[in-house]
Amino acid sequence: MSIKTIILAAGQGTRMRSARSKVLHEIANKALLQHVYETSQAIDDNRVFIIYGHGGETVKQTLSQLDATWIEQRLQLGTGHAVQQAIHHVEDADTVLVLYGDVPLLKAQTIQTLLKKVSATSLALLTVTLDDPTGYGRIVRDKDHAVIKIVEQKDANEVELQINEGNTGILACKGKQLKNWLSRLSNNNAQNEYYLTDIIEMAVEDGLTVETTQATSVDEVLGVNNRIQLAHLERVYQLEQANLLMEKGITLRDPNRIDVRGNFAELGQDIDVDVNVIFEGTNRIGSNVKIGPNCVIKNATIADEVEILANSIIEDASVGTGSRIGPFARLRPQAELADHVHIGNFVEIKKSKVASGSKINHLSYIGDSEIGSKVNIGAGTITCNYDGVNKFKTIIEDGAFIGSDTQLVAPVTVGKNATIGAGSTITKDTPAEQLTLSRTKQTSVPTWQRPVKQAEIVSGNTPHSATAPGVAQSPASLQSSLPTCKSEK
Ligand code: UD1
Ligand code: CA
Repeated sequence: MSIKTIILAAGQGTRMRSARSKVLHEIANKALLQHVYETSQAIDDNRVFIIYGHGGETVKQTLSQLDATWIEQRLQLGTGHAVQQAIHHVEDADTVLVLYGDVPLLKAQTIQTLLKKVSATSLALLTVTLDDPTGYGRIVRDKDHAVIKIVEQKDANEVELQINEGNTGILACKGKQLKNWLSRLSNNNAQNEYYLTDIIEMAVEDGLTVETTQATSVDEVLGVNNRIQLAHLERVYQLEQANLLMEKGITLRDPNRIDVRGNFAELGQDIDVDVNVIFEGTNRIGSNVKIGPNCVIKNATIADEVEILANSIIEDASVGTGSRIGPFARLRPQAELADHVHIGNFVEIKKSKVASGSKINHLSYIGDSEIGSKVNIGAGTITCNYDGVNKFKTIIEDGAFIGSDTQLVAPVTVGKNATIGAGSTITKDTPAEQLTLSRTKQTSVPTWQRPVKQAEIVSGNTPHSATAPGVAQSPASLQSSLPTCKSEK
């Protein structure tokens, strides 16, 4: 015996008002349908069938990586009709589980509980008690509280409409019986649809009992029909993630202001996360890591004792033990920082290795570089790694000191313990242990006078002796090296 899971995903989703199929809308960067699929993977010996709608080709293409059989339901004639599309894949001995592709937060544990209630003499139904059951099929019970049928909202009478136990749509039963019941469905109802829910009454007629289970919360079985519901379930999901993190020993300054759009492959102890931090992809985070507010951390590996200050972005990068990043730092793909590295504000690092103890504290771009240990890179240093076509490498050896506002035009190597004078444009390899600088000599012009505006001359309001506007009284030979003097309005 095995489990055949049929995920219904053929609905139009018109209330999303979207060009995209409803089940491709995402919670935590993952399609609704993928959430459902992944939950189903917690069940052993399970084969998944996805019923998609006419025009749902993009759903199939987008999620083609899922290990599932895709079955098209050309016309959406109802939930019963949808299940019928997959029934020839079902063997008599199988247990069939029906899930909805737009109910993303269902828990594997709830499915397990449901499946335990299926037998040759019982059908299992997941129900939910609601303050306002409008829109839901109602669970009709007899005086002994046994379920006798489900009646859809549109087919319900006054008394039935008062029932606040709703059908979640999620159920499980035996293959042999399901085949029989589906073959007997009719669309003789208010919506002229083949209702899957009609099998409940047939099961009771056939002498089966209907075993019900309730979900752990209403949110677990809520479907997404519009963007308001999507946003609601996103927050529900995020609060669940926040609670899981706190249970694992992570401090969250505000569990309502964190987003986990992915997972953690490693998570140390006593991590402290300030507000508005977004984790994406797969992150590995060591112990005693502090993450400041408004950071985005994606596919990162962050070792122990690291401090990430406010407004930093780390993507596909790694940070060694005891390093300090930010505020306002950006580590781009393949930035690999060793231990005790300091990266300060407005520093961007891409595809570069930085060895231990090095500091790049202010306003720099380091790309395609290899930086040794205990290197100090001054403010405003730029590696010029790109000629518009090719990328070139900058190598800075151990102990080098790069003066502020230096451009390192790659390919170039700065030798061990070399010092580069501030403001240099380095185009050739620089020798170890020496000072290298490239700068025009500083000049002062003692005879030069600052130009003044005409109006100031007329009013006699001049700081210096009156001159005509523009440059005057300076040797013609020097004029070219002086700033252009234009009076501004
Ligand atoms: C259905 C149930 C109702 C339950 C409610 C819970 C039936 C007849 N009614 O009603 O008892 O309370 O869900 O939300 O089953 N779908 C297809 N093909 C179709 C029709 C639907 O794949 O031809 C899919 C939809 O994409 C959706 C699911 O089945 O994922 C439910 O369909 P929907 O139209 O939302 O059913 P409801 O009328 O809400
Ligand atoms: Ca629905």
